[in-house]
Amino acid sequence: MKKKIALVKGDGIGPEVVNEGIKILRTIEEHTDYEFEFKEAPMGGEIWKKCGESLPQSSFEIMKQSDTILFGAVGLPDIPQGVAEKAILRVRQDLDLYVNLRPVKLYPSLHDMCPLKTEIVKNGIDISIFRENTESVYAQIGGVVNQETAVNSMVYTRKGVSRIIEYAFEYCKKNNLGELISVDKANVLAVSQFWRKIFQSIGQKYPKIKQTNYYVDAFCQWLIRDPSSIQTVVTENMFGDIVSDEAAYLVGSLGMAASGNINPNGVSMYEPIHGSAPDIAGQGIANPIGTILSVKMMFEESFQDAPIGKFIDKAVEYSLESMRTTDIYSKFAQKDVNIKRVNCKEMGNDVLKQLKSILKN
Ligand code: IPM
Ligand code: MG
Repeated sequence: MKKKIALVKGDGIGPEVVNEGIKILRTIEEHTDYEFEFKEAPMGGEIWKKCGESLPQSSFEIMKQSDTILFGAVGLPDIPQGVAEKAILRVRQDLDLYVNLRPVKLYPSLHDMCPLKTEIVKNGIDISIFRENTESVYAQIGGVVNQETAVNSMVYTRKGVSRIIEYAFEYCKKNNLGELISVDKANVLAVSQFWRKIFQSIGQKYPKIKQTNYYVDAFCQWLIRDPSSIQTVVTENMFGDIVSDEAAYLVGSLGMAASGNINPNGVSMYEPIHGSAPDIAGQGIANPIGTILSVKMMFEESFQDAPIGKFIDKAVEYSLESMRTTDIYSKFAQKDVNIKRVNCKEMGNDVLKQLKSILKN
C-alpha cells in the first residue's frame, strides 16, 4: 500500500519529535506492505522569517496532494503573535478538517504523574474528546470595531454542528461506547441552544447510546472530580480547545497527548498537542510520545488500520514501564531504580524496539 505523507516539522521541538515519528513509520514499512513517500512542507515561524509567509503556497500544495499529514509544532517567541496560529487555522479551514479528535489516556505506569489523588483516578482515564474544528469564534468574524469595542462572533451552522455530532455518535457505535456527553452553554448562549437541539435530534438515531448534556463550566469541574466516569465528549471549537488542555494535563504531561485534525473524506493532519516549546528546543529532551501516538491515530483514522494502531499503543505502554523523558520523570520514578530518565531519541528508539518485536510476532 503506497501512501504519500506530508511532513510539517515546523519550529522549536517540532523537527526533533517528527523525526521519531518518521522512524516509527519506517519500521512499519519494513515489517508490512506499507510504502511511504515523504515530502517536507515547511510551515510556521522559521519559514515566515525566510519568506514572509507562515504557510507558503508550495507547502500547502504538498499537503493537499498527500494522503495524510504529520505535523510537529509551529510558533516561535520572536515572531508576532498570531502568525503561526494563522497557518494552522488556514489548514484546518481550507482542508475542511472539521473533526478534532483528542484522546486522553492515562497509561498504567504513569499514575504517579497524574495531578489528581489516587482514589479519584484508580479506575483510569480514557477519554475521547471530539472538538468541532472549523466554526464558532474560530470562523474569524469580527474585529476591533473602535478604540472601545471589539467583537468576535460565535458562528454555528446546521451543517457544521450536525457533522461533528454525527461523527462522534458513529465513533461511539463503532467502538461500543455507551455514552456521548455533549458540552455546551445552553443556559446562556443561543448558539448552544441551537447545538443542543441538533444533538437531541441526531441522538434519536442512536437510542442505545446514553446522551448526556453538560454546561461547559460544570463539565470542567467533573473532569477533575471524576474523570474515570467520562468516556466520549463532543463539543464546539472554543470549549473543545479549553477542555482538551485541561484533560490532557491529567495524564501527566502535554508531551503525552496526540490529536487528529480529520476530514473523513479528505486529507487529515495528525499532531502532538504540546506546541513548539522553544524553552527546550535543540536540547534533545522533548517527549516524542505525543507524536508517536499521532502516528498511531494516523493509522486508525486515515488508513483505517486499527491493528497497527494497537501495536503502536502497546509499544508505548511497554516502553513507559522502564523509562521516561524529563517531562514525565517524577520523584516516584527517581526512587524506582527500574525507571531510567531518557532523552527524545532514546525514548523513540525504545518504542521502536518494542514495536519491532510486536510486529515480528
Ligand atoms: C490548539 C491550539 C490552537 C487552537 C492555536 C495554536 C491556534 O491551541 O490546537 O488547541 O486554538 O486551536
Ligand atoms: Mg489549544
